[in-house]
Amino acid sequence: MMQLTRRQLGLGAAAAGLFGSRAMAQTTAPSVKLPDGAQVPALGQGSWHLAQGRHPAAEEEEALRVGISLGLTLIDTAEIYGGGRAEQMIGRVIAGQRDKVFLVSKVRPDHATASGIQQACAASLSRLGTDHLDLYLLHWRNGAPDLGTVVAGFEALRAEGRTRRWGVSNFGVSDMEDLFRIRGGDACAANQVRYNLDDRGIERDLLPWCERHGVPIMAYSPLGQGGALLRNAALAGVAARHKVTPAAVALAWTMRSGHAISIPEAGSPNHVRENAAALSLRLTDQDVSELARGFT
Ligand SMILES: NC(=O)c1ccc[n+]([C@@H]2O[C@H](COP(=O)([O-])OP(=O)(O)OC[C@H]3O[C@@H](n4cnc5c(N)ncnc54)[C@H](OP(=O)(O)O)[C@@H]3O)[C@@H](O)[C@H]2O)c1
Repeated sequence: MMQLTRRQLGLGAAAAGLFGSRAMAQTTAPSVKLPDGAQVPALGQGSWHLAQGRHPAAEEEEALRVGISLGLTLIDTAEIYGGGRAEQMIGRVIAGQRDKVFLVSKVRPDHATASGIQQACAASLSRLGTDHLDLYLLHWRNGAPDLGTVVAGFEALRAEGRTRRWGVSNFGVSDMEDLFRIRGGDACAANQVRYNLDDRGIERDLLPWCERHGVPIMAYSPLGQGGALLRNAALAGVAARHKVTPAAVALAWTMRSGHAISIPEAGSPNHVRENAAALSLRLTDQDVSELARGFT
C-alpha cells in the first residue's frame, strides 16, 4: 500500500559530525536529511565524464580531493561511467579517507537481477576499494527486472552491509507510485533526476510527490552540463551581486528548498572551488524571482 506523508524531510543546519571528520564538524554547510535520519551534504561531486581524457587524470583527481576538503563529500558515480574507470579514479582519491565520503553508485538496469546485482555491486566495491556504498541506485528503470526483484536485491545488499541504503534514478511519478506499491519499496532513500534552472520539469509533479513522500531528490546536470545555462544574463546579474560565479548561483538555486542534493561535475580544482562557493550562498527572494524571469 502506498503511504502518504510517511516521513519528514528536513534541512540540516549543519553537517556537524556527519562522518566524524573535524573539517565537517566546523562547517555550517547545507545538508539534506535522508529518510533514515542521516544528514548528507547538499552539494556533492559527479563523475560521469571523469577518467575519460577530458582533463589530465591527475587534475581530475586533484579536483575531487579539493572538493572533499571543501565539504563536497558526497560523491556520485556509476558502474557505467567510463566502463568503470570513474569508479577506479574515485577509489584512488578516497583511499585513506573513505570515512569522510558519502559514496553513491548506480547499477545498470539489466544488472539488477537477483544474482546480477550482487555481482555488479561487488565489482563496483572492488573498483572503489571499499567494502560498502552509502547509497546504491537503480540507474534507470527501462530494462530492469520487475521492481519487486530490484527491491529484494537492494535489500539483500543492505542486509549484508554492502550498501547502507538504496534508491532510484530517472523515476517519474508513475514509476515512484509503482515502487511504493511494492512491499518495502517505500524504503527508497532518494531519486536522482535532472534538475537545473533550464529544466524545471520535475517541479510540476515529481518534486511535490517526492516532498510529500519524504524522498529527497538528487539533482543531476545542475549546471546544464556547462553549456548555455551558465551564459544566461539573469544568472550573470545575480552572480555579480553576490560576487560569485554563475555556476555557484546555479548550484545554490538547485539546493534552495533544502530537499535536494546537487551533484555538479567538475574536472578542475578551480571549477570545484567556484562551485563550493554555493555552500555559503543564500539566494534572496529577489534573486529567485530574477532567475525565474531570466529562464522562461
Ligand atoms: N542518474 C543519471 O542518469 C545521471 C545523468 C547525468 C548526470 N548524472 C550525474 O550528475 C553529475 C553532473 O551532471 P553532468 O555531468 O551531466 O553536468 P553538470 O554537472 O551540469 O555539468 C558539468 C559540466 O560543467 C562544467 N563545470 C563544472 N563546474 C564549472 C564551473 N564552476 N564553471 C563553468 N563550468 C563548470 C564541467 O566542466 P569541467 O569538466 O571542465 O569542470 C562540465 O563540462 C554527473 O557527473 C553524474 O555523476 C547522473
